[in-house]
Amino acid sequence: MANASTRFTDIKLIKATWRNAVFHARISGEPFILKQFYPPEKPDIVERLKTGLEVASLHMKDPHFQVNKCLEVFSAQGIAVLSYAPGVTVAEQLVISSAKERITLLERCGEWHLNYIGNRHKPSPFPKTFWESNLEQIKPPAMRPDKKYIFDVLRANLHTRIAGISGKTQITAATHGDFSVENIIVDTETLTGIDIEGTKWMPVSRESARFLVYLHSSYPQPAQTMEHGLFLEDKNALFTSGLMQGGEAPEIFRFFTGYHLLLRYMNMRADPDIYERILTMIGSYLEGNGV
Ligand SMILES: Nc1ncnc2c1ncn2[C@@H]1O[C@H](COP(=O)(O)OP(=O)(O)O)[C@@H](O)[C@H]1O
Ligand SMILES: [Mg+2]
Repeated sequence: MANASTRFTDIKLIKATWRNAVFHARISGEPFILKQFYPPEKPDIVERLKTGLEVASLHMKDPHFQVNKCLEVFSAQGIAVLSYAPGVTVAEQLVISSAKERITLLERCGEWHLNYIGNRHKPSPFPKTFWESNLEQIKPPAMRPDKKYIFDVLRANLHTRIAGISGKTQITAATHGDFSVENIIVDTETLTGIDIEGTKWMPVSRESARFLVYLHSSYPQPAQTMEHGLFLEDKNALFTSGLMQGGEAPEIFRFFTGYHLLLRYMNMRADPDIYERILTMIGSYLEGNGV
């Protein structure tokens, strides 16, 4: 590590949380990203990160859809040295995009994820008991009664949905794990996935629902039509590539949309703009469900 730290110059902090810090740094003028993790299991985190990126790099053959490379890890310190992806995040690009450019960009995001998954997907039955207990384990923070009422109605709605989709086919895949408009870098030709910490097997519909709930609550496009809690044009754009192909029941995606609305509702109450949007999305989600 002594060698590693002396090699880097111009080290600048980009972002820090309780869990990790991200730095921009240079070696002989060339840019790199350093990501340092703090949890006690940091050696495992960086080893998984490295392996996950190696596997993904091997099968992502299309130069337009890439992941950042992991060049080196210092396991004991929980540090990963990553290749620098030039460009801006999709979130930053969306802010300056026209309605048409937005659709094209979201289509490319779907295509990026389809390329990331490659042939790593398999059908499995929707696990009813797992999701029932997962929902019950969500402990909402203290809320005013009117806010708690919305939480309870949505959670009850999700329980009803689980009963209806139990055992139906879901498509589980090697997903990004934190697929979001802030974790894809775009430049003129290429989309590069960043913030990947190993291969996360989960339903593609779950990862896609989280992407859209986050997008629509933080970067909305109000001119679009809202249906089942999401903006229809954005959703169709994300799925144009065939990301959701494979015979999964559409009700499973609907369930995960509600699940992520519930989590975001719970976590974003302190942000008035996002909270208002989430309320609108939940209203649309519950419409026509007799609740
Ligand atoms: N490989 C990379 N190339 C270019 N920028 C990056 C790279 N990795 C991270 N960044 C920048 O740092 C920010 C935070 O990094 P990220 O890995 O997403 O951390 P976090 O887990 O805190 O979200 C990103 O939004 C991006 O702006
Ligand atoms: Mg990130």
